[in-house]
Amino acid sequence: MEDAVLAKALEAARWAPSWANCQPWTFVVVRDAALRERLARADRSRRKPLAAAPVIVAVLGERGRSGYIRGELVTEKEDWWYLFDLGLAVENFSLAAHDLGLGSVIVGWFSAREMESILEVPAGREVAVLLGVGYPAEEPTPPRRRTLDELVSLDRPGQPWPAAAQAAAGERAIVTVLGPDRVGIIAAVAGLLSDSGANILDISETIVDRYLTMTMVVDLAACRLEFAALQARLAEGGREVGVQVIMQREDVFRYMHRI
Ligand SMILES: Cc1cc2nc3c(=O)[nH]c(=O)nc-3n(C[C@H](O)[C@H](O)[C@H](O)COP(=O)(O)O)c2cc1C
Repeated sequence: MEDAVLAKALEAARWAPSWANCQPWTFVVVRDAALRERLARADRSRRKPLAAAPVIVAVLGERGRSGYIRGELVTEKEDWWYLFDLGLAVENFSLAAHDLGLGSVIVGWFSAREMESILEVPAGREVAVLLGVGYPAEEPTPPRRRTLDELVSLDRPGQPWPAAAQAAAGERAIVTVLGPDRVGIIAAVAGLLSDSGANILDISETIVDRYLTMTMVVDLAACRLEFAALQARLAEGGREVGVQVIMQREDVFRYMHRI
């Protein structure tokens, strides 16, 4: 990975907003293989995401600036605003890295003292997170995020915001499976959905005289296929196992069924 590319992502980080523009961050680009290995070994997270990264960026924070005015803490968040500032810088970095074709992972599960001793960080600075950076070897499906209607309310917490429900419905589909019931049909359809990154939120089925009617509510937010391509793949996969598989956007489905 070229330094010039990395510099662009760091440039984005540098422009992040911070408390009173105090910019309580500095960055260490770690390329040295032996150092990277020591950092990766000290990472306590289970997946060990730093092990394969050709570059690790250590994000150092400086306390005593964010949340302060003229040396005095002025908010009830006490000394914690600096982590918020660092989070903004790291998010800028991650988004810019993604735009540049890089993958990055934030790692925060470690002993900061141990990382600081490996990197010989001077007093007054601390390692907040380590970023593993590299060109991605694969395109993983992002883990599911909660939908807007689960997150956003109107005027008061808990009061539905209609626009959120509409946005969420636009990302959801209803998959209907119709045909003679046989072992393996549900697994076949579910497999096609999960292979494409679609997430099954709910399933209901009825079997009458060995005829299966199944509906699935599917979250498409992380789906890697275009809607029409997934529709076609499901229809084809259904034919292979002798059932009809129909996918409709949830809002269209609701409209058609007057729900
Ligand atoms: C503050 C913070 C600390 C994290 N620490 C770790 C970590 O120690 N190890 C790890 O594997 N992932 C870590 N992650 C990555 C998250 O697990 C990941 O971003 C989340 O599961 C969402 O996945 P995605 O980023 O692929 O969408 C961290 C993320 C954040 C924001």
